[in-house]
Amino acid sequence: MKIAVACDHGGYDLKEMVIGFLESMEHTVEDLGTYSRESVDYPEYGHKCGEAVASGRVRAGIVICGSGIGISIAANKVKGVRCALCTSVKMAELSRQHNDANMLALGGRLTEPVLALQIVDAWLNTEFEGGRHQRRVDILDSY
Ligand code: RB5
Repeated sequence: MKIAVACDHGGYDLKEMVIGFLESMEHTVEDLGTYSRESVDYPEYGHKCGEAVASGRVRAGIVICGSGIGISIAANKVKGVRCALCTSVKMAELSRQHNDANMLALGGRLTEPVLALQIVDAWLNTEFEGGRHQRRVDILDSY
């Protein structure tokens, strides 16, 4: 799967780990930055990754800032994006099963790396259930 990944300085270390994990699983990664721990503004990276997903250039996006909050808000401003900030494997599964989330957000300063990679793995390997959930996703997307 082609996956875009982006972060701010607060998510940089975890982004590097996530990219290594994705590549070890044979995914193709588009790394949209940031590329160091130097302070940057998370909205730019959330928007950029959201646009890559909404345009169809990539199948999924993963965004990371310190808490995961700011960059998920930014991604969700892009029409067509459904970005879920997940702090547990269960949230990752539900965000796919019920919300058909096409982007995952993580908090690089709040979620420890082993759990973060478990969340990524669960998120990538859980299918959307459709049915009644499709109607609700359609309502989300039409707003
Ligand atoms: C940056 O210091 C921090 O505010 C950012 O990474 C994020 O947590 C915002 O929501």
